[in-house]
Amino acid sequence: MDKILIEGGAPLRGTVRVSGAKNAALPVVAAALLAEGDHVVRNVPDLADVRTMGRLLGHAGCTFERVAGSPAAVVVRTPRSVNPEAPYELVRTMRASVLVLGPMLSRWGRARVSLPGGCAIGARPIDQHLKALTALGAELTLAHGYVEGRVPRGRLRGTTFTFDKETVTGTENVMMAAALAEGRTVLENCAREPEVGDLAAALVRMGAHIEGAGTQRIVIDGVDSLSGLDHDVIPDRIEAGTFLVVGALPRNEVTVAGALPDHMEALVEKLRLAGATVEEVPGGIRVAGPDRPRPVDVRTAPFPGFPTDMQAQMMVLLALADGSSVIKETVFENRFMHVLELERLGAEIAVDGKVAVVKGVPALSGAPVMASDLRASAALVLAGLAAQGTTEVRRVYHLDRGYERIEAKLEPLGARIRRVTA
Ligand code: UD1
Repeated sequence: MDKILIEGGAPLRGTVRVSGAKNAALPVVAAALLAEGDHVVRNVPDLADVRTMGRLLGHAGCTFERVAGSPAAVVVRTPRSVNPEAPYELVRTMRASVLVLGPMLSRWGRARVSLPGGCAIGARPIDQHLKALTALGAELTLAHGYVEGRVPRGRLRGTTFTFDKETVTGTENVMMAAALAEGRTVLENCAREPEVGDLAAALVRMGAHIEGAGTQRIVIDGVDSLSGLDHDVIPDRIEAGTFLVVGALPRNEVTVAGALPDHMEALVEKLRLAGATVEEVPGGIRVAGPDRPRPVDVRTAPFPGFPTDMQAQMMVLLALADGSSVIKETVFENRFMHVLELERLGAEIAVDGKVAVVKGVPALSGAPVMASDLRASAALVLAGLAAQGTTEVRRVYHLDRGYERIEAKLEPLGARIRRVTA
């Protein structure tokens, strides 16, 4: 198992370029199931989760290949009929595998998809996906760890559905299913994340009729068939945000090329309150850290709120603040698993349920730590960069699910970081 070794304390300066968004690439690539033929998706990051989605499509009978000479582009070839199944061995490593359910049901009228695994960050049900697909006319049963679905009348039928809870992949799954349903679907209380908007843009280019993506009400007029995908995935706002936090650490100054300010307002606001200087520059965002961060209270919420996927990284900055900050996690349960590891580096954090009180310390000190989930591992890398001495981050496979060679991106900024392959 790979480890990342960091010799912390070096000031970091320079420009880092953000990759395509994992959380946009996954649904867009899954959308290739909706139409026969060749699909081209560009700016697709080369990440473990994306490879898992490729294997899922491969299991179904599609081909999934990187384009020689332009590795950020992927070509998917979807045959006329597929094996509409997503097996446990693939789904267990990635919760977003459930994104194939909607397309399979709407295109082939049947699907068999294992219940998801993914990050160990609390109970993560898919009841909203299932409820909405049922409202569209699918018959779903849960048996032996699988969702088995069929559409008795052959084609899904448009409906009005209100999500009980905003769900990102739920909104995406149902939007894809409704794109080929008969008639109009109105979805209320939808997730407004930019990745939902990016998927809608990709579907519209395939010939779908979708309005309102990015708002809480999405209206989809189903069409009989769709054509091939041709799409550029948006930049990854969570990877970009992670690098913005790097820039906001004391003595650092980092330009994140490709970061889209409109996608990052909640984070930028908190970084400024923490004393960082953040400015838009042509093609990106530049951030410079204060001598010592100020404490800031943070509450995670669905977009446009502060992203839960940035909570752990922000905690590292606040762990070094001159005072106490309160972080409230409202999206997921059990998303403070990085706290124990940050404490090993000298952070002072008290957790009570969904609330963490972070009492800033003047410095962190390096230690061996263990990554527990994707964003927690990014936080540990950031903490290692800021800490004095050596930090060894173990279980890097979590990190590799969502960050494209993070060490190779940080090293040119002056980070003393390297991967050790066991
Ligand atoms: C997506 C992101 C993930 C991010 C999360 C929240 C992808 C591939 N992943 O995950 O990185 O952390 O959004 O921004 O895009 N819920 C239910 N029932 C459901 C679905 C969700 O109760 O059917 C709950 C979840 O347990 C959670 C909340 O709703 O508490 C939000 O989850 P959701 O938006 O669905 O997260 P994902 O789409 O899995």
